[in-house]
Amino acid sequence: MKKTFPFLSIFLILLFCQCDTKRTNVSNKTTALMGLVTQNAMVVSAREEASKIGSDIMQQGGNAFDAMVATEMALAVCYPNAGNLGGGGFMVYRTHDGLTGALDYREKAPLKAYKQMYLDKADTYLTEMSKTGVLAVGVPGTIAGIFKAHEKFGTLPIQTILAPVILLAKNGFKLTDNQAKQFNTYRPIFKEVNQENSIYTKQFTAGDLFKNEALARTLQKISDKGRDAFYKGAIAQTLVAFIKNKGGIISLKDLALYKAKWRNPVVFDYKDMRIISMSPPSSGGICMAQILKTTANFPIADYGHNNTKTIQVLTEASRRAYADRSHYLGDPDFINIPVDSLLNDAYLTKRMENFSFDLATVSKDIKHGTIPGYESLETTHYSIVDSFGNAIAVTTTLNASFGSKVYSKELGFFLNNEMDDFSAKPGTPNLFGLIGGDANAIAPQKRMLSSMTPTLVEKDGALWMTLGTPGGSTIITSVLQTILNVYEFDMSMQEAVNAPRFHHQWLPDVVKFETHGFNTQILKELEQKGYTVDQESTALIGKVDGIRVLPSGALEAGADKRGDDTAVGF
Ligand code: GLY
Repeated sequence: MKKTFPFLSIFLILLFCQCDTKRTNVSNKTTALMGLVTQNAMVVSAREEASKIGSDIMQQGGNAFDAMVATEMALAVCYPNAGNLGGGGFMVYRTHDGLTGALDYREKAPLKAYKQMYLDKADTYLTEMSKTGVLAVGVPGTIAGIFKAHEKFGTLPIQTILAPVILLAKNGFKLTDNQAKQFNTYRPIFKEVNQENSIYTKQFTAGDLFKNEALARTLQKISDKGRDAFYKGAIAQTLVAFIKNKGGIISLKDLALYKAKWRNPVVFDYKDMRIISMSPPSSGGICMAQILKTTANFPIADYGHNNTKTIQVLTEASRRAYADRSHYLGDPDFINIPVDSLLNDAYLTKRMENFSFDLATVSKDIKHGTIPGYESLETTHYSIVDSFGNAIAVTTTLNASFGSKVYSKELGFFLNNEMDDFSAKPGTPNLFGLIGGDANAIAPQKRMLSSMTPTLVEKDGALWMTLGTPGGSTIITSVLQTILNVYEFDMSMQEAVNAPRFHHQWLPDVVKFETHGFNTQILKELEQKGYTVDQESTALIGKVDGIRVLPSGALEAGADKRGDDTAVGF
């Protein structure tokens, strides 16, 4: 999220001031700032229209998985910078009877992709090539993902679920102020990349009705003919011809070969919480487990929320976890990942041996750990709980805002630039400044490493929370700070989401803080201890959307007001 608008800054100052006041009295929950509370079911997503469509599907008798299909597709219509048909994502679920699992519908490298595809003859990384334009596009997984989820758990017919989404695309939705500004900002690049005008190249103002009839037709084909319309039928033909015409390499065979996959989630304990999160090819679950398992050895509730010592513990644990991420993590179908060793308590304790509260560790002195015998930002997340007790956390993305910016007028959607999540050249940072290694090198049919961290939390064996966020490499730290805010610092879900966030990822060796909400004395203390404090480059970190189950069984939303995020339920 590169742009901060003045009104947003003012809002955030007010928001964080309010949180500071609450934190002086956080145990008195009668005064807590609460999100929307509903008794039965809820969807929290980046757009009110998408949350409403998902919630309505549940009110018609559908379950959380039916609502997932509806919400995912509604976001593709009304939040097109990240909601998508041309991208991919991950879902973590917990059924009403406590079964947990994960669905991987991450994009894949095309068959014609190869390790050095973004390097020139002198071995220079052509960084723009993996970010913008048709060669940045990975084989999309979203449509396979929604059908896989529906096939296993869905209860309503796909036509019933997609009907309101098709109407949303056909009849249009009103642009928010944020959205109108964002569309206008990207207009020149849409024109440059696509070399033509489209519905996205107009001048917009807040409140404009935005219709996408081409997308309505595409969704209608999917509703009529199912998943194969996208991967083998009419949409596949149109998409491949379009990509080929632009000099891209995704073929009909790439689409036909694409499959979403069920995965075992990463499951670990933090004190009396059980946390269920996304497994590789996302780094989210493993990285978060390493950071939280390390943090559990320190009394951070005593140190205080966003206090010097708490920030140091989380920063140092993150430094070591992100160093491991860049060395060990990648697509589990291509490499062996030593998951058990990375999450071993003795290993994690040893990793912190050289940590001292007196002085920052320096990232250049930290490498990945040694394991015997042997890795904008404009993603989007939504959380759903249904009245049957099923819960899901889904994070989905085009990678950057509007992905590669390549837009098919005929099909009505943007294509991802997920190829940039591979390590195009070891040691060279990607869009998020992440440094990767061979484990995440490009190979045909391989899935690129992700940071997406859709997460569920159980307490006393029952569902307690579902949450996640966009934010590239900052996803992992935003999710875990939100969990800690509720668990260790006694905040409501909404307070936990509102609270100011910080981030460290090993390299670059800086601790990023949101622009507002941090105590300047604490930041000075951190600088004195050797931390490089960056409060300028990232005004906002993440946009967390979550739901907490209250002791009464009611649901409390945390909808992040850093965006237009909204909870709807009943
Ligand atoms: N494209 C961002 C991520 O998957 O981490």
